Amino acid sequence: MSQSNGKPIVEVSNLDVFFNTTQGKLHAIRSANWSVSQGETLVILGESGAGKSVSVHAATGLLPGTAEITGSIKFEGEEILGGSEETLRQLRAEKIGVIFQDPLASLDPCFKVGAQIAEIFTVHRGMSKSEAWAEAVKLLDSVQIPDPERRANQFSHQLSGGQRQRVVIAMAIALSPTLLIADEPTTALDASVQVAVLELIKKLRNERKMAVVLITHNIGVAASIADRIAIMYGGRIVEIGDTKEVLQSPRHPYTQALLASMPKIGAGASKRLVTITGTPPSLATIPGGCAFHPRCTRAIAKCSDVVPEIELNKNGSLHSFACHNPEEAN
Ligand SMILES: Nc1ncnc2c1ncn2[C@@H]1O[C@H](COP(=O)(O)OP(=O)(O)OP(=O)(O)O)[C@@H](O)[C@H]1O
Ligand SMILES: [Mg+2]
Repeated sequence: MSQSNGKPIVEVSNLDVFFNTTQGKLHAIRSANWSVSQGETLVILGESGAGKSVSVHAATGLLPGTAEITGSIKFEGEEILGGSEETLRQLRAEKIGVIFQDPLASLDPCFKVGAQIAEIFTVHRGMSKSEAWAEAVKLLDSVQIPDPERRANQFSHQLSGGQRQRVVIAMAIALSPTLLIADEPTTALDASVQVAVLELIKKLRNERKMAVVLITHNIGVAASIADRIAIMYGGRIVEIGDTKEVLQSPRHPYTQALLASMPKIGAGASKRLVTITGTPPSLATIPGGCAFHPRCTRAIAKCSDVVPEIELNKNGSLHSFACHNPEEAN
């Protein structure tokens, strides 16, 4: 686990995201507050549609033009909401590395993987082709691809799933970003490869002092890499805190149900998962009050009327949750 208390890289305050759609205006992210610092990993957990990807894309200016965003997003202390497209483009190119779930979708099948990495250095660092190639081979070595010279000369279909994901990681860190975003980076991989890729992300984070925001559906992944965990439901962060506290003493009933329902790393098929009764709400029909109340075993009258506010830093605690009738602390 990272021990860094470095400078804040991303600080999101009172963030709301709306999408203008044919169904009307959908409220996708509601009053989000989170931050991530140098050398630190924030993991976002939640069911499908909770707003995990939209949260990280908003923080990097990657949302489509139909998105309306209010609040504040500071990157290394500078406000980026309302900034010019050119500033955002520069930021994304130089400071933010992104790893997506499916490595095949991030790689061009028609070019050697070495050439794809080298192009980053010719375009953004003005290197000659031979300098850029040498740099690409060095980078493949640093993401622990054996025989990097030979691999650089291959096409993505000639690599295993784990090797491809390493190439994608190499491309994401090529320009030494200060923020690494990983949206389910290990979901498409076998269990043993998942562990290795996760170890690599941790090693690179520690060596390069990157801030990491990682989205996963796997509690084992979260436990092994996160310094802090944010739980999302219906577009809201319903609980956030240090990994140990959130995993060992979850206070929001949703967190408790979610943790019980999530796969552990390398868990065999025999281990049955607990499912959460009911389905997550669609954005168009988010229930009033606490969005989780129709599925909650601890709901009280107030829960259907009043949105529970998340009380950040109450009495100096870094563990916060938004619930009228929370679970007892362990
Ligand atoms: N461009 C868009 N236009 C309209 N709605 C969108 C758009 N992008 C996302 N949404 C909606 O915002 C909500 C949150 O989406 P998001 O992709 O963040 O979910 P997620 O938590 O990442 O889910 P998953 O685990 O399935 O990846 C969803 O209801 C989604 O349909
Ligand atoms: Mg997503």
